[in-house]
Amino acid sequence: MGKRTGQVSAQSARSAGDSPERRGRFITLEGGEGVGKSTNLARVVGWLEARGLEVVQTREPGGTPRAEAIRRLLLDPEEREPLDEDAELLLVFAARAQHLARVIRPALARGAWVVCDRFTDATFAYQGGGRGLDPARIAELEAFVQRGLTPDLTLLLDMPMAEAQCRLEGRLAGSGERRDRFEQERGDFFEAVRQAYLARAAKAPERIALIDAARSPEAVGRQIEEVLARRMAAWQR
Ligand SMILES: Nc1ncnc2c1ncn2[C@@H]1O[C@H](COP(=O)(O)OP(=O)(O)O)[C@@H](O)[C@H]1O
Ligand SMILES: [Mg+2]
Repeated sequence: MGKRTGQVSAQSARSAGDSPERRGRFITLEGGEGVGKSTNLARVVGWLEARGLEVVQTREPGGTPRAEAIRRLLLDPEEREPLDEDAELLLVFAARAQHLARVIRPALARGAWVVCDRFTDATFAYQGGGRGLDPARIAELEAFVQRGLTPDLTLLLDMPMAEAQCRLEGRLAGSGERRDRFEQERGDFFEAVRQAYLARAAKAPERIALIDAARSPEAVGRQIEEVLARRMAAWQR
């Protein structure tokens, strides 16, 4: 049972008796390639730190050295051995189990806030919507790996995929990076990803805040800060 202590302590950190200031929250940023997740992650972290909170900034797949090694396997565009879709799904959850055990659960347990670039909504969007895997199977793995731990707030950055592709091209040209295995997918894959994200947001409006990512960086940042301020007030009540 030693492996389960992370969950127990994460829950006790949330139980009655902890002051609201001490209670760590789990915030995720979601959306397709190039919508501005990484750009706005920094903004969310800065906003929380300015309020005196301890913040752990992390990402998926990855977030620990072993989970980052799994990320490299997932993103490697190597074409000689195509990656089986079920293997892809299991690798995503293997990385997530490691990340939860080593980073997310311990941080929440000590009262830190966790801000994560992508989480399980991305699995439903990419492996579910994009690859067409059965969402019921993804939900089984979610229950197995997360044991009830889900984000407190998810910021879903949404915009037309063609515009996001232009931004991505700008970023790739600026950095000289190659497209990874997901960035190489075609337009219909990205459209399926977007629709799967929107469907999840429609089903969980209390958790997932929809952000219009097509606007200027300042306007997107303002929308996000408004959502954070509203949620923070509700959590402290
Ligand atoms: N609101 C915005 N308007 C225009 N360009 C943006 C905006 N937000 C981010 N960008 C730019 O778009 C590119 C992709 O943003 P990034 O944050 O890397 O997206 P993601 O992490 O979602 O793939 C970057 O070059 C970034 O500077
Ligand atoms: Mg990014």
